[in-house]
Amino acid sequence: MIVGRSLEMKWTLILLLGSSLALTAVGWTYHYSNKTVNWTEARQHCKTNYTDMVVIQSQEENNYLVSLLPDRDSSPYYWIGITKSHMNETWTWIGNNSTWIGNESWAENEPNNNHSTEFCVEIYVNKGKNRGKWNDEKCSRPKSPVCYKTQCNATSCGRGTCQETIENITCKCEPGFKGDRCQTAVECPHLPQPDNGDFSCFGGNQTFNSTCQLKCHQGFLVIGSSAITCGATGVWNGPRPICTSYKQALLAVAGCGALSAFCCICFCWMKHKKRKKLTQVRVPEEATGPSSEVQG
Ligand SMILES: *[C@@H]1O[C@H](CO)[C@@H](O)[C@H](O)[C@H]1NC(C)=O
Ligand SMILES: *[C@@H]1O[C@H](CO)[C@@H](O)[C@H](O)[C@H]1NC(C)=O
Ligand SMILES: *[C@@H]1O[C@H](CO)[C@@H](O)[C@H](O)[C@H]1NC(C)=O
Ligand SMILES: *[C@@H]1O[C@H](CO)[C@@H](O)[C@H](O)[C@H]1NC(C)=O
Ligand SMILES: *[C@@H]1O[C@H](CO)[C@@H](O)[C@H](O)[C@H]1NC(C)=O
Ligand SMILES: *[C@@H]1O[C@H](CO)[C@@H](O)[C@H](O)[C@H]1NC(C)=O
Ligand SMILES: *[C@@H]1O[C@H](CO)[C@@H](O)[C@H](O)[C@H]1NC(C)=O
Ligand SMILES: *[C@@H]1O[C@H](CO)[C@@H](O)[C@H](O)[C@H]1NC(C)=O
Repeated sequence: MIVGRSLEMKWTLILLLGSSLALTAVGWTYHYSNKTVNWTEARQHCKTNYTDMVVIQSQEENNYLVSLLPDRDSSPYYWIGITKSHMNETWTWIGNNSTWIGNESWAENEPNNNHSTEFCVEIYVNKGKNRGKWNDEKCSRPKSPVCYKTQCNATSCGRGTCQETIENITCKCEPGFKGDRCQTAVECPHLPQPDNGDFSCFGGNQTFNSTCQLKCHQGFLVIGSSAITCGATGVWNGPRPICTSYKQALLAVAGCGALSAFCCICFCWMKHKKRKKLTQVRVPEEATGPSSEVQG
């Protein structure tokens, strides 16, 4: 059964409003049974019906779990997923071998290993000072299982990884994707309809990883790289290509030619001027040279 008033309300809403609200996923849900069984059977029950026995990784999670479970004053004991197999081992959580234990976790004078064989842990859910505290117990004792069911699955986060917390799922998106479920590809600035040509895009609607190719109408030439691709940050990988007519292209080439001709003229003129200057400087030398030679 699902515990917690807020969760119950959400499920009621889902039932009332239809399945679309079922997508507003909460983080993992907690489930308990009133049947009491030993620790091994409790874990088996959790793995069969849900994800696994409950794992607690912070005082906040501990308090939250306790707030969801019904108070039981006569038999307030629930198995939790932390255990060890020998007296000198450290307490280890199931699942990922985490060894988290808070300063406030154990009940007073616990763990005491009273029977030298207390290798499992129960949590007290009652009123009073031991509420939410832990105690080491013999694994063969019958207690209520508390299980959790993870909400993250392969489809939770379209193009991202799913991270679960109390009552929440967050998706960490791959580069090029966005949205709370990483469902949307990043868009690049929309390409305006080009003059004298058409863009054809594939691999997305001008979104991440889509390539747009410019095809010019007959009589027109592409200036620039004809294909551009949308990058992960929403920027095209090159300048937008344009179509231009042969005439314009020729004019451009002619312009270029004219420019280079002009440059050539400049260059030649300057060179000429420089040579002239040199000649002017050298003339007297040349004039005096031979005469001194004649003199010498
Ligand atoms: C937990 O530790 C055990 C023993 O050291 C090892 O065999 C197991 O692979 C570990 N599990 C994880 C999920 O790290
Ligand atoms: C172990 O798993 C829990 C969730 O089940 C997670 O919150 C915690 O960070 C993990 N710890 C380590 C050490 O990986
Ligand atoms: C150890 O357990 C016995 C019963 O099994 C109990 O009477 C005794 O008080 C316990 N000792 C401590 C220190 O908890
Ligand atoms: C738990 O119960 C099962 C079935 O009754 C039994 O086979 C198993 O040995 C018990 N385990 C422990 C640790 O007491
Ligand atoms: C996967 O998880 C989402 C919530 O994150 C849930 O809505 C969906 O039904 C789940 N799909 C399967 C196949 O379990
Ligand atoms: C879930 O977590 C995200 C990011 O951590 C946060 O922005 C969002 O408000 C949370 N949703 C709920 C219902 O707590
Ligand atoms: C492509 O995206 C634009 C907005 O960026 C939208 O107006 C258009 O309908 C989309 N086309 C298709 C085929 O999805
Ligand atoms: C990008 O597109 C290519 C094919 O065009 C594909 O092989 C590749 O997996 C895509 N990358 C992503 C991140 O979607």
